[in-house]
Amino acid sequence: MASAAATSLPTLASPAPRVSFSVSAAGKNSNGLPMSAGARRVPGISVIHSQRGRMVAAAAAATKMPPSARGGDGEKTFVEEMKDIAMSLHTEDQARTVNLRNATVEGYLRFLVDSKLVFETLENIVNRAVVPFPWYAEFQNTGLERSEALKNDLKWFREQGHTIPEPSAPGTKHAAYLKELSEKDSQAFLCHFYSVYFAQSAGGRMIGAKIDEKILNKKELEFYKWEGSLSQLLQDVRAKLNQVASTWSQEEKKHCLEEVEMAFTYSMDRLRHIFT
Ligand code: HEM
Repeated sequence: MASAAATSLPTLASPAPRVSFSVSAAGKNSNGLPMSAGARRVPGISVIHSQRGRMVAAAAAATKMPPSARGGDGEKTFVEEMKDIAMSLHTEDQARTVNLRNATVEGYLRFLVDSKLVFETLENIVNRAVVPFPWYAEFQNTGLERSEALKNDLKWFREQGHTIPEPSAPGTKHAAYLKELSEKDSQAFLCHFYSVYFAQSAGGRMIGAKIDEKILNKKELEFYKWEGSLSQLLQDVRAKLNQVASTWSQEEKKHCLEEVEMAFTYSMDRLRHIFT
């Protein structure tokens, strides 16, 4: 299992440019991290927190996990803690960027190319799963993989006569950061793994549906299609994430949770190709 506290990453040249989301001072979670109560949220996204059905479903699923994967009596699972922090970063400021007024095929292609690089990087890392973190292998063939789908989508664009751009900074920087984390900081790496795949299954899918309708004449990309039941795939991965995190110290868990904001920033940077 992952060794001790995560290392800092002194060689990381420049952190992702920060987006101007505002997590206003509010409560703190069990790890002492800021929580969302004061954050202004995207209309429609704040609903998530009041969708009792979802919470109940998540709680029910959690009861199927081994006790070690759960937080304990009445406590949140580790994935729920990550989700809380991620949701606290969905602000009104971000809602403005959901406006697809400026969306173009060129911008969308840049987003898809950078996304392919990020998903490929994540998938290569877990597929290699070498010492010192052999448990990355737990996350092979989860069914959430997206790089093959993106490859096919980009092939389709090429066949339509579009030029496929080279990856740009939001993709290359995130990919480099992921590689570095995967070797030195497995807790932070896992946080990005969760954030990228779950963001794609949630907001990513929502944005994709809108943009496909607006600029692709309703052509539905493979990027937004999963084989089998997506909710089951997500639940299986949640259970694995909780299981892995259950072997971590409090310090390691805290470190992983602290990385959520960075993971959000990197992904938001990539999404910005669509909105600007
Ligand atoms: C304009 C940008 C975005 C929009 C409109 C958006 C929208 C949403 C929505 C609607 C949900 C809730 C889905 C549901 O459970 O019903 C969600 C969940 C989530 N989003 Fe975003 N999102 C955006 C950007 C991001 C970014 C940049 C990240 C960073 C990684 C992210 C990470 C997540 C995560 C981790 C969840 C929780 C998924 C889960 O655990 O079930 N989102 N988002």
